[in-house]
Amino acid sequence: MSVARLSTVPARPSSADTHAGPRRGRPPARNEILRAGRLGGMDPEGLAGQFGTPLYVYDLDVVSRQVAALRAVLPPSFELAYALKANPALGVVAHLAELGLGADVASGGELATALRAGIPAPVIVMTGPGKRDDELHGAVRAGLRAVTVESPGELRRLEAIAASAGRRVPILLRAAVAPEARLERVRLVGDDGAGKFGMGSEDLLEAARFGVRSPHLEPIGLHAFGASNVLDAGALADHIAATMTAARALAVAAGFPLRLVDAGGGLGIAYEVHEESLDLVGLGRRLAALATEWSADPVTREARLLLEPGRFLVGPAGAYVARVVDRKLVDGREVVILDGGIHHVLRPALVGQEHRVRRLSGSGEGAGRFVPVTVAGPLCSGLDILATEVMLAIPEPGDLVAVLDVGAYGFTEAMPFFLSHPIPAEVAVRGGQAALLRPRLEPEAWLAWQSVPEWSARR
Ligand SMILES: Cc1ncc(COP(=O)(O)O)c(C=O)c1O
Repeated sequence: MSVARLSTVPARPSSADTHAGPRRGRPPARNEILRAGRLGGMDPEGLAGQFGTPLYVYDLDVVSRQVAALRAVLPPSFELAYALKANPALGVVAHLAELGLGADVASGGELATALRAGIPAPVIVMTGPGKRDDELHGAVRAGLRAVTVESPGELRRLEAIAASAGRRVPILLRAAVAPEARLERVRLVGDDGAGKFGMGSEDLLEAARFGVRSPHLEPIGLHAFGASNVLDAGALADHIAATMTAARALAVAAGFPLRLVDAGGGLGIAYEVHEESLDLVGLGRRLAALATEWSADPVTREARLLLEPGRFLVGPAGAYVARVVDRKLVDGREVVILDGGIHHVLRPALVGQEHRVRRLSGSGEGAGRFVPVTVAGPLCSGLDILATEVMLAIPEPGDLVAVLDVGAYGFTEAMPFFLSHPIPAEVAVRGGQAALLRPRLEPEAWLAWQSVPEWSARR
């Protein structure tokens, strides 16, 4: 973190950090892991004592409530497939399996995880550019609901694999991201994929016609992912409507019955205090109107609409808990250093969006005094900043701090070997109990995996 950045970013008040109660005109309390200073009802110090710090904690009751809230507004023709890329911890995926969700997997490893977690193959779809032959073989063998095809070359490889297995594989054709969605994606995640996802309209049609002619492929619909972390219900509904329209046109032009339309994920969560949560009721209202339209059209009447949310379902359920190692005043500004940082929570550095940070314990001099505090990790990198000048009761060395909303794209997106610090445990809490999902690793563990070659002398 440069001094320039410290001095140019204004202090942002954090209602989460002021322990403010509900006020008139304020949105309802968030469904999130931290309530009244406890993580899923558990004492943070107890969790830290049992599992060490830094630590990832996921509240599975929050996940259940997110699933229920979304399902409550979806029309009957909509289905949910959990995008494992958001959080592939087996215990988290098993919880979503228990709730009856399907899965969206993007690799052979994610497919193995979904199956091991108990998600049945007929409700799993596989999407993603660059699927290797062994991954396509695995998908064909498992008998997935659909494999999403991203290019003409992949289509031919899949056909050959399906033929060699004597199978007929249901496929979705993936459309390249629509230009307006691409703009949004660039703004939100700083990346437009540079054309690596899906196919343009000519290739789409040709691929669909090839699929219709092949005895080993069965085109059933279209896939289109719009943008990530969308908080605008209208924009999400527009994307879903546009995807159905494009799918309908493709099915008619290529001559296959439209059975599945996959509009991807992208349902957003409010990371920052000033952001408003996604308007689920408004989204539901728009989707109900769309579903009514589709049910009156003979081409779209039988089609199921699949959403593949990841972030929305698990993001608010996660907290990253770290202990303060050091506190200092630098040119009059408060800085605290934690025993964890962006090697475990990369998202703030990657996307440039900071997460809410809360002090969880402590009663030192700073307990009741809110000042701008920069919260940093222990890495020898200026990027290792978790929060810049957020209003916090100053944490003291030994206090616990939580980074919130890290249940999605948290540990799975980390770079845990950088600087050889311990790798955090992942723990689930549910109904007042805690359970270890993945153990903490000390450097000795990965030193034991490695070897120093014994080179023979060259003559
Ligand atoms: C194809 C596909 N489906 C679903 C998702 C999940 O998106 P989100 O977690 O934003 O809902 C992604 C995320 O990149 C994706 O690429």
